[in-house]
Amino acid sequence: MKKELNLVVNGESYNLWVEPGTLLVQVLRDELGFKGTKRSCDSGSCCACTVILDGKAVKSCSILALQANGKKVLTVEGLADGANLHPIQQAFIDNWAFQCGFCTSGQMMAAKALLDENDNPTREEIQRAMDGHLCRCTGYNMINEAIQDAAKRLRERK
Ligand code: FES
Ligand code: FES
Repeated sequence: MKKELNLVVNGESYNLWVEPGTLLVQVLRDELGFKGTKRSCDSGSCCACTVILDGKAVKSCSILALQANGKKVLTVEGLADGANLHPIQQAFIDNWAFQCGFCTSGQMMAAKALLDENDNPTREEIQRAMDGHLCRCTGYNMINEAIQDAAKRLRERK
């Protein structure tokens, strides 16, 4: 039997009815149209589906939508400010930190959760925060450098 769900996604409130077994990633992509959140392994082992839930990076394929009831979700669509890319997005572009891009939204959301807590992470701290984020086509070094660059841009913006 469907249950009522309220989510605030990228600052907008949504009310819908979902089956109890529905995953957060299914609601985001299939019900609300936030296709930037990717669904890949579907088993919690690639991190492509990472979003920020009440300030923490989470794998949206590993959370029931109803577990997120009443909470705030940030997806990659909520990063940019209108036509202006978020510094994390710009740093990923400028550092060649993606190729096919399939893992990139999850990588950027994990980077945002990290940089919101730590504005000057070491290389090792970035590696720890990004542990489990699989990328089959870009060097992990470039991703790490992009996050260091994003951190610098964000510090300069303060
Ligand atoms: S799709 Fe969620 S961890 Fe891989
Ligand atoms: S950019 Fe292709 S999987 Fe990461």
